[in-house]
Amino acid sequence: MAAPLENPTAFVIFGGGGDLAWRKLVPALYNLWLDKALPEPFQVIALDIKETDPAAYTKHLREGVDQFSRRGKADGKEWKEFTGHLSYLRADFADVSAFSRLEEQLDGLDKEWGKPAIRVFYLATPTSVMRLIAQQLHDSGLAAAGIPRARVVFEKPFGQDLDSARELNGFLSGLFDEGQIYRIDHYLGKEPVQNILAFRFANTVYEPLWNRRYIDSVQITVAESEGVGTRGGYYEHAGALRDMVQNHLMQVLCLVAMEPPVTFEADELRNKKLDVLRAIRRMTPKDVHELVERGQYGPGLVKGEKVPGYRSEGGIDPHSTIETFVALKLFVDNWRWQDVPFYLRTGKRLPVRASEVCIQFRPVPHQAFPASAIGEMEPNRLLLRIQPREGIVMRFQAKRPGSNMRLARVETRFDYKEAFQTSEPEAYETLLQDVIEGDPAQFMRRDQIEEAWKIVMPILDYWADQGQSDLPVYPAGTWGPEAAHFLTARDGRVWVEPTGTEEEEEKG
Ligand code: BG6
Repeated sequence: MAAPLENPTAFVIFGGGGDLAWRKLVPALYNLWLDKALPEPFQVIALDIKETDPAAYTKHLREGVDQFSRRGKADGKEWKEFTGHLSYLRADFADVSAFSRLEEQLDGLDKEWGKPAIRVFYLATPTSVMRLIAQQLHDSGLAAAGIPRARVVFEKPFGQDLDSARELNGFLSGLFDEGQIYRIDHYLGKEPVQNILAFRFANTVYEPLWNRRYIDSVQITVAESEGVGTRGGYYEHAGALRDMVQNHLMQVLCLVAMEPPVTFEADELRNKKLDVLRAIRRMTPKDVHELVERGQYGPGLVKGEKVPGYRSEGGIDPHSTIETFVALKLFVDNWRWQDVPFYLRTGKRLPVRASEVCIQFRPVPHQAFPASAIGEMEPNRLLLRIQPREGIVMRFQAKRPGSNMRLARVETRFDYKEAFQTSEPEAYETLLQDVIEGDPAQFMRRDQIEEAWKIVMPILDYWADQGQSDLPVYPAGTWGPEAAHFLTARDGRVWVEPTGTEEEEEKG
């Protein structure tokens, strides 16, 4: 349910001096502000332990906007006006008095605005302090069950495994109502990810084909060319399965596989997605052995540049056995998808940055064309490009011009930039606006998080039992360990290379 834009809103960022606020949150808020999509009045209060003066802080934020905003550099006048809505509070989150000072500021805003404001508390902090902040918010009465105007946003990772996620959910449910908790998965804010719903349920053409009778298999690839960067400390406790599969890839899978919702209300959508998660076949240890491949990048060449291996990156144990690549085959055991394989893969230091879903249709039931005509035949494929070149591509066979019948693969293409001639909002813009408006549809409900953990747990348990000594190393700049190729090859299929890459974008 969207709140009217005139609802006064205070947006509090815990960890205001951190990387997430710098790269994502403040650029997103600034863009929303430029689009006049923020409520009136509006105030951002950034909290952090670092001692900094307001001028130095806003200068630092501006550098972030200049570097990371989809609109490029901030305009001097606009930026100045925006920062009129921004303040910084030095705060030690363990100190109760920090929360009293915050409360004073928030109460002051309510008085000034003549109305109790919506209060969004965004925890852009390391996981280690999230509980502490949640507890302080609760104990101070700033955000507690029964105060619907207070919303609390949590970043991933949401738990390390099923038990810790359950425990964290239990802890939070002792402090807040479920409706106040916004667990963010930024993939759900991406335009092309949200477009999967529009494509499937606002059109009649594809939905009748969207099932095991016509679809042969589904592939979801989320490839990154970057390495672990500066996040070694976090990644060493995560790995690709926890970092990407349990959340982002599972959510994309849900959107591809879910049943049509009756309405677009938050719980209806989330119930339909939950049904998919519940239907995903749980793996036995034998399944994990056969259907999951992992690897870690070694030194190599990415886009022509030499890059170090994972174990030589900053903050990484030189003997680390954390996986930076994982590929797996899943089944969704329900009426629609029985026996249709879903191949998922994600990794760092792959040749390109590209996320794409490939829906591969079944071959024609009878091949009437002469062998000489069908040399180049390939199955119909629908490519849902998530990034960086957002769009949809349908590949099909056509007759090649000439006096003989010869088939060739052609494609029709929908391209966001061409079709809409506008730069689309970043995922964080969409999701922050949803929180401000009180719409939890694109956020993870407690049961979704736990169900997704149930799917990956057998894999984590199997790896823990087996030890990591056989972890294959793949050269940076390649498509992961060789075994990943066999995952599809064994079934007579191939991984389809994502097409919407930066290289392709550069070619135009
Ligand atoms: C984050 C992961 O959730 O998603 C990162 O923690 C990953 O490891 C990132 O790089 C990818 O997001 P995007 O939007 O760049 O595809």
